[in-house]
Amino acid sequence: MKRPFYLTTPIYYVNDQPHIGHAYTTVLGDVLARAHRLMGHETYFLTGTDEHGQKVEQAAKKAGMDPQAHCDLYSARFKEAWKVLGISNDQFIRTTDPAHKNYVRAKLIELKERGEIYSSTYEGWYSTGEERFFTEKELVDGKDPISGRPVEWISEKNYFFRMSNWQAKLIAHIEGHPTFILPEFRRNEVLGFLKQPLADLCISRPKTRLAWGIPLPFDEDYVAYVWVDALLNYASAVEARPWADGQAKWPATLHLIGKDILTTHCVYWTTLLMGLGAPLPEHILAHGWWMKDGARMSKTTGNVVDPIEVSKTRGAEVFRYFLMREMGMGQDGDYTEAGLIGAHNSDLANDLGNLVSRTHRLVSQHFEGKVPSPVAHQPSDLALKKILTELSPAVEGEYRAFRPDGAIKKVTGLLRELNRYIDSAAPWKAIKTDRDAVATVLYQVLDGLRLCAHWLGPIMPQNMDRVLVTLGAPQPLTNWQDVGALPQGAALGEAVNLFPRIELTSPAETPVLKSKESAPAKATAPGPTPAAPGTITFDEFVKTDLKVGLVIEAAAVEGTDKLVKLSVDIGEAKPRTVVAGIRLSYPPETLPGKRVLLVTNLAPRKLKGIESHGMVLCAKVSDEKGERLVLVSPETEVAPGSLVS
Ligand code: MSP
Repeated sequence: MKRPFYLTTPIYYVNDQPHIGHAYTTVLGDVLARAHRLMGHETYFLTGTDEHGQKVEQAAKKAGMDPQAHCDLYSARFKEAWKVLGISNDQFIRTTDPAHKNYVRAKLIELKERGEIYSSTYEGWYSTGEERFFTEKELVDGKDPISGRPVEWISEKNYFFRMSNWQAKLIAHIEGHPTFILPEFRRNEVLGFLKQPLADLCISRPKTRLAWGIPLPFDEDYVAYVWVDALLNYASAVEARPWADGQAKWPATLHLIGKDILTTHCVYWTTLLMGLGAPLPEHILAHGWWMKDGARMSKTTGNVVDPIEVSKTRGAEVFRYFLMREMGMGQDGDYTEAGLIGAHNSDLANDLGNLVSRTHRLVSQHFEGKVPSPVAHQPSDLALKKILTELSPAVEGEYRAFRPDGAIKKVTGLLRELNRYIDSAAPWKAIKTDRDAVATVLYQVLDGLRLCAHWLGPIMPQNMDRVLVTLGAPQPLTNWQDVGALPQGAALGEAVNLFPRIELTSPAETPVLKSKESAPAKATAPGPTPAAPGTITFDEFVKTDLKVGLVIEAAAVEGTDKLVKLSVDIGEAKPRTVVAGIRLSYPPETLPGKRVLLVTNLAPRKLKGIESHGMVLCAKVSDEKGERLVLVSPETEVAPGSLVS
């Protein structure tokens, strides 16, 4: 039986605006939730906001707001951001929800009754900035070793959880469950940490120091430590929401977290659950850290990537794709605008979008816009068929192992394979001699594209739905073990220009979060070096958009002896009309099927009444055969629309 899948993201502090780090975990959760739903698993996806504690209290104070009003404002920003990013969470929990507060108080009573909580006087150096105590040894020059701020000696009564009692059991659990903490190097990190004796956990804060929290049920002069309050959200959220069969949703299948909150989840949370006699989550997966242009992001440098702005300029689904593609599981990732544009143009505009529109056009031209029936299978067709059948369980395996980046690699590999396959079968030529072979090739490409769209569906749901409609295959794929087949004879949907290439007219800049606290902008970088006379600058050169085109039709332009009218496929929904003065060197009938290099961003120009949308590049040759033009072509049969750079 398929086990239900309950997954969570961390709940985000409401002292800040959503940034790329928050967006990454939430998109990762969304992608995994969508993939599991598609696999037919009952799925529950939880996210939310962490609203108590000193950080939030101070942020509200700084803004001159009542803490609850401040929480309401920031929590709404997270909700809004997740709407923009297409997040399909089933619930959004807030730790100021009355139900959560009651749950925390009930669990604290339970822990106390189980003998897991005791009170004691605690003495130590306290840092307000870090909201924690340090030992004498940990201080650096008598100051907080993390923030470098002064510390104060505090002696106070507090409440403690007997975390130390669970150390041996925790080590045994981690050792006995190799996939409990993922990836493996993080598991080793936690085991390394547990080699030192574990102290008990201080779970209270006196109200005199911090008022913004959940009062302890057994001593109203104290509030609960914010991490105890926050971690309990994973269980409180689903307490009254069983699965369809009545079983409790807890324990979670997967907690997604960033690497900085490994100890709180793997040690504090796990031992608290042991103290409550509750089952443990199945997996805790810690992802890496996002950098920006190779540097750490920080508010003071003002380089924190703003997910909403990137979604507005590049499209939310393109941003989701880039996030998933770029970060290997557990590794750090680097956000660069050039990286995002490169991934968009090569994977999405070229390999996927162009192939969809080329195939759509060929089917429309030669098969009345209906999915052709495969007739005879050549060895190359059979080889592709085998790849398609074998790939589905492999892609499913990547999603099941929480690796959307691995799923993307498999799909982009297949897209390159499909492009090679159609290019070597050259249906635009073969149609004249072997219609059956072309029917088979086009069918297989459509079917391959159908599967790619399914497999990328969890990452780019709306765009992939559009692809499926275009291909005449709007039904979702529910069985990944048996991919079925594209219905023959189905009418294709309308052609769509899915991922128009991103053309750079100026150096790419990433939208960053602007906040009042941002440092003033640095002096602007020096501009490009001016070009020497007779040369052009690099920026001027890259404005020229050069692409590989495939000539589909050619005809002489009447009333001239040099001009031909060409119809050139450059991977767009419609072929381009280009008028070229090459007829003396190339009679029209020699041109279809030739690959050419085309300048595609010239302003249109009328020649003999025909509007020309590009310029074909030729070498001017003068030798014993006389003066003539020789077309410049790529060395191999690369896909039409490939960028020449
Ligand atoms: N409120 C706690 C979590 C409580 S869960 C019971 C918290 N909140 S946070 O808003 O500060 O951070 C939330 C998540 O964002 C963490 O998983 C953290 O790792 C992640 N990130 C913050 N900056 C990040 C990057 N630059 N890159 C990737 N993730 C980062 O901690």
